[in-house]
Amino acid sequence: MVRILAIETSCDETAAAVVENGRVILSNVIASQVEVHRRFGGVVPEIASRNHLAKVLPIIDEALARSGSGLESLGAIAVTCGPGLAGALIVGVQVAKALAWTRHLPLVGVHHLAGHLHAVALTERPPELPFLGLVVSGGHSSLYAVEAGPSYRLLGRTLDDAAGEAFDKVAKLLGLPYPGGVEIDLLAEGGDPNAISFPRALQNRGTLDFSFSGLKTAVRQHIERTGELRGQALRDLCASFQEAICDVLSSRALDAARSAGLRRLVLCGGVAANRRLRELTARRAAEAGVELFVPPPKLCTDNAAMIATAGWLWLERGDRSRSDLDADPSLALA
Ligand code: KG4
Ligand code: ZN
Repeated sequence: MVRILAIETSCDETAAAVVENGRVILSNVIASQVEVHRRFGGVVPEIASRNHLAKVLPIIDEALARSGSGLESLGAIAVTCGPGLAGALIVGVQVAKALAWTRHLPLVGVHHLAGHLHAVALTERPPELPFLGLVVSGGHSSLYAVEAGPSYRLLGRTLDDAAGEAFDKVAKLLGLPYPGGVEIDLLAEGGDPNAISFPRALQNRGTLDFSFSGLKTAVRQHIERTGELRGQALRDLCASFQEAICDVLSSRALDAARSAGLRRLVLCGGVAANRRLRELTARRAAEAGVELFVPPPKLCTDNAAMIATAGWLWLERGDRSRSDLDADPSLALA
């Protein structure tokens, strides 16, 4: 049994978790900074770093205490070393290095998106490799073939905004609080997804890439034409915008699964918490005979348990980080 302590500080959540053999969560503690950043309408990097600095040790203490582990019972330390905000990543990486160094523990630096892709291993029914992974978060919208190793092959990515970024920017245009994805998800529930016909960029072009900036512009132009939206008009706009994003994400994911010959699809990242995306992808996957795996919402948004799982797999494949491990804000996965 290997107990891994994982630390995640890539954006605005300070998180630590203890996970056994990459499968069993003993503790998963998250301190969100959402309230701190809300009044700025988005994440302020320096404020995020300072908050990580204040919270990272108390959060690690809490993760150890809740898991009933002392530092002496740990087998390894995993930490997100990129991509993300430089000053935010550095806090987690430095603490992880200090702990590994003082306790003589193996250290593994993990790619944030590998964490999202492997979060599904923490569910009751994890998929076997290979699978097709759609990672949709605030910073990324990418399609990866995840193969034995694990190894990762990038099949498609966004050419401009990430899906979560599009949700957050449109929410801001509508005067909704940050982060806007969940607000739009809630408002869309009472709206008509066919009320407004928004563009689906790059559809039927044979590409596996995404583009969401035109959709955001179309929403802005709609708001400029109609003026401030309230009530049913607001709900219809949210539902129509959400439908356009979910339509593109789910159809591209199934195109990618087909072209790569993969029969298992994993939906992950913060936007995978979106109810319409889960529903539409489930329907299309069933029609295509593809098995769909989606972690529960709290394992979709940023957390450290997913970093522990990816760390365990990376340690198993022989990865070890040295004491000069650095944070890399634009680290590539494949
Ligand atoms: O993975 P994540 O927690 O952090 C990053 O690595 O970026 O993803 C955060 C993103 C935000 O853009 C947020 O608005 C979006 O996920 N999000 C959602 C929902 N819940 C979170 N977007 C749409 N619907 C949701 N229910
Ligand atoms: Zn993330």
